Amino acid sequence: MQIGLIRYLIDKLYNANILDKDEIVYILKNIKDENKEILFDYAVKTCERYYKRKVYLRGLIEFSNICMRNCLYCGIRAENSNAERYRLSKDEILECCKEGYSLGYRTFVLQSGEDMWFDAEKISDIIKSIKALYPDVAVTLSIGERTYDEYKIMFDAGADRFLLRHETASEELYGKLHPGASFINRKNCLYILKEIGYQVGAGFMIGLPGQTEEHLADDLIFLKELYPHMIGIGPFIPHSETPLCNEKGGTVEDTLVVLAMARLMVPDALIPATTAIGTLKKNGRELALNAGANVVMPNLTPVNQRAKYDLYENKICIGDEPAHCRVCIENRIRAAGFEPDLGRGDNVNFLKD
Ligand code: 5AD
Ligand code: FES
Repeated sequence: MQIGLIRYLIDKLYNANILDKDEIVYILKNIKDENKEILFDYAVKTCERYYKRKVYLRGLIEFSNICMRNCLYCGIRAENSNAERYRLSKDEILECCKEGYSLGYRTFVLQSGEDMWFDAEKISDIIKSIKALYPDVAVTLSIGERTYDEYKIMFDAGADRFLLRHETASEELYGKLHPGASFINRKNCLYILKEIGYQVGAGFMIGLPGQTEEHLADDLIFLKELYPHMIGIGPFIPHSETPLCNEKGGTVEDTLVVLAMARLMVPDALIPATTAIGTLKKNGRELALNAGANVVMPNLTPVNQRAKYDLYENKICIGDEPAHCRVCIENRIRAAGFEPDLGRGDNVNFLKD
């Protein structure tokens, strides 16, 4: 019996962990349900080789929604004057860590808009305090583009990881979506972060207006080239207070296919089942785990501020206390056939000098 081209390409990706652009595009354009099952199965098997069936939990602290950028898709863009802005104080951030630590979290992800009030010095001071109180935790920053020197200062202060999605690897699409920003600089930041010694997370959205299968293939090829330690992939969800309010947005189905392919391109990456995919579909995060994801990032932001960090609308868990989410997500992970793990969960191939 002759096996179809698509099955041949999926097998090739599974075995070689690489495909060229035409081959990736062919899969993206032609994959149907029966082949998706095979792709997802390969993605889970590949993940298991490195991480068994463990799913790592990270405590997310969204400490400021003030942002100087104007990314067309994002609800906290500077020009959205209807966004209610907030900044957590250092004490409030430490309070979140205290609660997170007592719930068992050993990674804290400090995320914000590009809020330059939090300069390298202030961030470093916060990192040092967290590390002094909780020496066994990993601190991940997700605060956007800074200079080499700033990244270095924060790394020397104890930051372990840095998330900076590349958003799209197409320079043209990047330019359209990010007024005043430079794709070259963004890419450069990712390479600089890696060079400094961070575990680095790249990633992108699925379903952006104007995004084609060719663009997505470029995203996957960029991942292969950068070889990040972490990869965040989620559907674009239109926000009513942005210029992209009338766009369609991404689907769970498309996101899962690209996520599984990213797992096969960068087999040892830590890949979250994102809040965005959980927002589009009730069991979206479980579906992502079954397509090769192995991280979940429950929210530790104080409930009274949480709704304001609305990159997109109808975000899940907005009113749920951290203690509730931890139990909920652990149950969901187990019910999906995986094992929740609250440990630091470093990338298996990352060795800190
Ligand atoms: N829909 C989905 N994801 C979004 N992000 C920003 N705005 C949206 C949106 N409307 C993603 C970006 C960013 C990450 C923190 O959230 O990829 O890097
Ligand atoms: Fe927050 Fe389930 S993870 S309520």
